[in-house]
Amino acid sequence: MTAASVTVRVPAKVNVQLAVGGLRPDGFHDLANVFLAVGLYDHVTAAPAAGLRISGEGRDIESVPLDASNLAARAAIVLAERHGIEPRVHLHLRKDIPVAGGMAGGSADAAGALVACDALWGLGTPREELLAICAELGSDVPFALAGGAALGVGRGEILTPLEVGGAFHWVFAAAEGGLSTPAVYRECDRLRRERGAGDGVDDVAVPAADPRLLDALRAGDVHALAATLSNDLQSAALSLRPDLARTLRAGEDAGALAAVVSGSGPTCAFLVSDEETAAKLAHALGPAARPAPAPAPGATLLPA
Ligand code: C5P
Repeated sequence: MTAASVTVRVPAKVNVQLAVGGLRPDGFHDLANVFLAVGLYDHVTAAPAAGLRISGEGRDIESVPLDASNLAARAAIVLAERHGIEPRVHLHLRKDIPVAGGMAGGSADAAGALVACDALWGLGTPREELLAICAELGSDVPFALAGGAALGVGRGEILTPLEVGGAFHWVFAAAEGGLSTPAVYRECDRLRRERGAGDGVDDVAVPAADPRLLDALRAGDVHALAATLSNDLQSAALSLRPDLARTLRAGEDAGALAAVVSGSGPTCAFLVSDEETAAKLAHALGPAARPAPAPAPGATLLPA
């Protein structure tokens, strides 16, 4: 018998390194993107329905499009098309990942919807094929499926899993309003042009993973990781949202080992020494701040 509904839990990510190369002819940028999945989760429930329907709940849900343009709905449509069936499903998103926050919440929902629909419809799609669909949906979607830690190259979708030698504790401060990812990449190109670094394919350094950062992850060494965190989109995010500089400073002043904008922002990420410090820092930063450990597992089907 087919299950009445299935729920998939899917994590947010922080980029511990985001090295951005030149603008490619296809409008994307080549990346060396070191993803770390963190224990802040969205839940995607898929239930049988007459047609495709999507609903949601959670902070800032009013700014999430609850129609066929939602990446989770697109995931259901693409999966159904591959198998020659109709996307008859009600997707419900329970969101805890900041919306348009630079933590890949929309990508997480797409990966969650894919796994949930695959289970609901009893398709048993091989993992490699699910990952290929994820890559079609968006650059960050494969990592939301995979979880853990990974180096993403290409536009971020070509993943190599990374070893992580221990837990890392973080605090995430969501900011009012989101930032548009394309706008942040455009601002990065603009700033580079202004500095004379160019934004063409040839004139920006080829992005590469920092070996010291990979060693820090492997060793579970929080101080070494704090010393090597980097995000090439940070100056662009700060240029569009100068108020974030204050948040970053507030976290550092309150005991963070390092502070960085998460991905394209505007969420700010603070790395701390242990779980207790994470709880204290989250409290000090106020209600929009949340502690979360890493690494977290990828999209996980929850028991019925
Ligand atoms: O792949 P995704 O849909 O998440 O990308 C959203 C936008 O972010 C792209 O349209 C592009 O403007 C920008 N982007 C980029 N280079 C990447 C990933 C995303 O320029 N590697």
